[in-house]
Amino acid sequence: MKRKKTIGDFFEMKRNREQITFITSYDYPTATFAEKAGMDMILVGDSLGMCVYGYRGTVPVTMDQCIYHCEAVRRAAPNTFVMGDMPFLSYQPSTELAVLNAGRFLKEADCDAVKLEGGKRVVPQVRAILDAGIVVCGHIGLTPQSSGQLGGHKAQGRTAESAKLLIEDAVALHEAGIQMLLLEAVPAPVGKFITELLPIPVYGIGAGMYTDGQILIVSDLIGQFQAFTPKFVKKYANVAKVVTEAIRAYGDDVRSGAFPAVEHCYSMIKGEYPKFQEMIEQYKKLE
Ligand code: KIV
Repeated sequence: MKRKKTIGDFFEMKRNREQITFITSYDYPTATFAEKAGMDMILVGDSLGMCVYGYRGTVPVTMDQCIYHCEAVRRAAPNTFVMGDMPFLSYQPSTELAVLNAGRFLKEADCDAVKLEGGKRVVPQVRAILDAGIVVCGHIGLTPQSSGQLGGHKAQGRTAESAKLLIEDAVALHEAGIQMLLLEAVPAPVGKFITELLPIPVYGIGAGMYTDGQILIVSDLIGQFQAFTPKFVKKYANVAKVVTEAIRAYGDDVRSGAFPAVEHCYSMIKGEYPKFQEMIEQYKKLE
């Protein structure tokens, strides 16, 4: 049986330059596949707002939605490190709210860690959650919950000046005590510099090839999410096509009478059919 990796294993993998594999999942079947496929970590990302609920962004996602999806993923992947993603307004208003909501991921959904977006400005929340004994992953670069302030879903740190701000955020979060960091949509040299600067595991999504691990959104990589495809996505399957074709074929079969066939039908228990025929004769007589 697969052994669930711990934060200590991820530090060791960084030291050994062994890539850490990380993927999002939101539901029981997909998380079963992720564990079976040998992923080191699963993020139940607030991207579920777009990938599962069809929202335009992550802002409407609630704590309860995140908890339900984390519960399903944990049931499916008992031997994989599972990280809960703190949704918009679950940590920004106060350190107390941040601790209570971070704690829900552990108490109610048995998560191993939580992730929250932001740099220097979330340091008080990060400290408070860490003081409660919870493993914290930072998230800087493109932070979708504040994409309005960033001018949309755009790569960050593309000028030396803005890269400096990202580095300052990474250092501030590290000094606050985060045990892992996620970099989203930043140039590869910026990803490399921050990965080498910090002694903690740094994961990238659109942050180049030099980070300690990679994460992709499962709905992107299997070709399920249709609204748009970020530059950093590599599609490994076209599930949308496969599923649409299967449903279309089912509809065609129902319309033509090809489904259900004899093999999809139940038979009556031996000796019951003549009795059944006799019985329905009476109904026929009623007509
Ligand atoms: O919510 C999410 O899926 C994320 C991605 C950037 C991995 O945070």
